[in-house]
Amino acid sequence: MTVTKKIDIKAGKPYRVKIGKGLLDKAGEEAKALGLDGKALIISDDNVAALYLEKVSSSLKEAGFEVFSFVIPHGESSKSAENLLAILEFAAENAFSRTDTFFALGGGVVGDLCGFAAAVYMRGTNFVQLPTTLLAAVDSSVGGKTAIDLEAGKNLAGAFYQPKLVLCDTATFDTLPDEEFSNGMAEVIKYGMFCDGGFLDILTESNTDIEEIVARCVAIKARVVEADEFDKGERMFLNFGHTVAHAVENLSGYTTPHGSAVAIGMAAITKAAIALGKCESKTFDILVELLKKYRLPFECPYGIDEVYNVTLKDKKNAHGKITLVIPAGKGESVLQKCDYDELKDIITLGLK
Ligand code: NAD
Ligand code: GLY
Repeated sequence: MTVTKKIDIKAGKPYRVKIGKGLLDKAGEEAKALGLDGKALIISDDNVAALYLEKVSSSLKEAGFEVFSFVIPHGESSKSAENLLAILEFAAENAFSRTDTFFALGGGVVGDLCGFAAAVYMRGTNFVQLPTTLLAAVDSSVGGKTAIDLEAGKNLAGAFYQPKLVLCDTATFDTLPDEEFSNGMAEVIKYGMFCDGGFLDILTESNTDIEEIVARCVAIKARVVEADEFDKGERMFLNFGHTVAHAVENLSGYTTPHGSAVAIGMAAITKAAIALGKCESKTFDILVELLKKYRLPFECPYGIDEVYNVTLKDKKNAHGKITLVIPAGKGESVLQKCDYDELKDIITLGLK
């Protein structure tokens, strides 16, 4: 086992993120050390459950938990109201109380769904994140955004609800399909692009230790979430590339994975910023070099009007304006509130 890295998230309710190989074997003792006990509900998807459910279940049982599991099919379509209700009913049928704990074992889909279930079950039960994708490790497991998708769009029902603990076992990445590793790298590159030029150099020049990469991203996310837990200002930087990304996901019927869509969105907004004279063209070259290195797409397969029409429905619209993260150089960005005409211009410049 590697040395475990620890990062504290000083949100309203603080918690610790631990990163290292072999942490799933210690899920039970880590949870117990926090004072958690009683019943444990492990929520996972079919792919992840086949690989890691037994390990986590054994660890929790050894620590004295009474263990239950609820397995959903893998994929974005599982982040549904139907699965949310099924989990809540399952917990109630098995007499879970507010002092029991839900464990999210999987990627961002499982984490978002399980976190929302934990937020609303009895108005809030304990919840632990056990991310098994790179994307979940560097982004979705930290910061307390939980959600399900509605027919009208992604993440339209949710809550800010922080976990008690995040245990990131980087050994789980060994079984990740290459494409999923790449999707996680899109969010990694995002951190470098919006605020950490030195990180972009490291990612470009070497194959850094994965624990170092996860820890650097989580440290950035910690700082951002601590400054703005409820997404009123600084946290919007985490949405770099996400306006076009959400449109791409929507237009693909959610067949384009989130990470790939973010890659396309980052390229589009960087291109637009260069055309507007807000950013030098070498920033785009650095981004594209990295996207290529991690076999990520950077050309948008949809037209300007299609993308624009979907972005109008983005939940980040407020008072007729949408806040975009505009790159201002390597590892630098600014927030810009745009009206719909400015948004259309930016999408046009980014996609043409
Ligand atoms: P995912 O959860 O669908 O996982 C991707 C695929 O990898 C799935 O098929 C899964 O079964 C499989 N998998 C997971 N771990 C594995 C492992 N160790 N070995 C083998 N296969 C494994 O997708 P994701 O990319 O992790 O997450 C995407 C979701 O996260 C989206 O719904 C997105 O909206 C959400 N998200 C949320 C936040 C947030 O702040 N809450 C941030 C970013 C993304
Ligand atoms: N992934 C965006 C956020 O956590 O705010």
